[in-house]
Amino acid sequence: MNLNERCKPFADYVVQAKACGFYPYFRPISQSWGTEVLVDGRRLVMIGSNDYLGLAHDPRVLEAAAGALTRWGAGPGGSRFLCGNMTVHEALEERLADFVGMRKAIVHTTGFTTNVGAIGCLLGREDLILCDRENHSSIFEGCRASGARVVPFKHNDAADAGRKLRRALDREFRGCVLLITEGVFSMSGDAVELPEFLELKRQFPSLLVYLDDAHGLGVMGPRGRGTAARFEATDRVDFIMGTFSKALASVGGFIASDDDAVLEYLRHHSKPLIFSAALPASAVAAVQASLDVLESEPERVDRLRTITERVKNGFRDIGLRVSDSETPIVPIHIGSEMTAYHFSQDLFRHGVFALPAVYPAVPRGGAVIRTAYMSTHEARHIDFVLEVIEKLARKHGVAGTAPRPEESLDEAAALAMAVC
Ligand SMILES: Cc1ncc(COP(=O)(O)O)c(C=O)c1O
Repeated sequence: MNLNERCKPFADYVVQAKACGFYPYFRPISQSWGTEVLVDGRRLVMIGSNDYLGLAHDPRVLEAAAGALTRWGAGPGGSRFLCGNMTVHEALEERLADFVGMRKAIVHTTGFTTNVGAIGCLLGREDLILCDRENHSSIFEGCRASGARVVPFKHNDAADAGRKLRRALDREFRGCVLLITEGVFSMSGDAVELPEFLELKRQFPSLLVYLDDAHGLGVMGPRGRGTAARFEATDRVDFIMGTFSKALASVGGFIASDDDAVLEYLRHHSKPLIFSAALPASAVAAVQASLDVLESEPERVDRLRTITERVKNGFRDIGLRVSDSETPIVPIHIGSEMTAYHFSQDLFRHGVFALPAVYPAVPRGGAVIRTAYMSTHEARHIDFVLEVIEKLARKHGVAGTAPRPEESLDEAAALAMAVC
């Protein structure tokens, strides 16, 4: 089978899905005001964004980015390793290390490449990685790049991780063991049971813990300092990884640790850091300005929690299943992937921008509409969103029912079903 024959069935599904009006992805936004966006000439309320603190449009952030653009130019001209390293990168690294409570940090061009580069270069074939089943794709790609043995454990289940680790260590094992979890899971909004995972370090003193806090920074913990700070456990976490593409209103990523030698090794071996262009100065300046705003206006974090609580109460009143976690990610549990596509399409029709998450972004048969909130959402936005969701939950038979389990679907089949 040639490459075209291999890809064509999927491409045909996409064409069909678009023709039937059920294709929800890659929607071109022609203008954004943060909480509202313009799509095909219609203004929609955005409840899909990770700009949790609403800083992507803050005038102070825009001004900082514009200033850096003029001083350093639009592009970096090369990788940090060669000619793209700027004083702003190093200043940001110091600030981030201080922000998360670690000795050092290394900035990469995206969060995705941070995970791929860091995990990929620090671990090798002789090592073992324990990985939450619902970890982000960039983590699994990093694991794959490392060549280490990967042992997935049940989502957010430290006891299962411990059992798996015990079993793996029974053999003649000499390598390093890294446990990777997220602070806030991007699709479910679940917050990690961090103390339970850190307990494993008592039984396995050589265990290293890697926390991807992409969705926890700026959101969780005192003054938004993240998940480790929330549990006062920073000194027991070995690596904190974060992104700038969520609450910090920019793009980019970083990894922080107290271990100078390990970070120095990483700085010279992370492939995306050496072989991919540096983060532009304007993006770096936007992160610095976002941190300034976060430090001077910590009430933004409280406001985000208040808004999220209001949404969760609204969901409960409608009869939707809601978790107890205090994160701003509040999925509408649908179950059936086809229903999720229809639901999302109806949301668009009613003026709300939120997308379905289907396998492999969520477990098979566990489709959700991922909704996420911003500290800049106004009461009128939330009133409107709840009104629309109530109407659609009734229409699609979602309210008051547990998600229906469904046969496994691959991505192409899921789209095909949506077309029918
Ligand atoms: C948990 C997690 N880690 C890493 C990433 C990658 O971050 P970025 O968008 O900065 O590449 C994401 C992005 O969605 C994420 O959710």
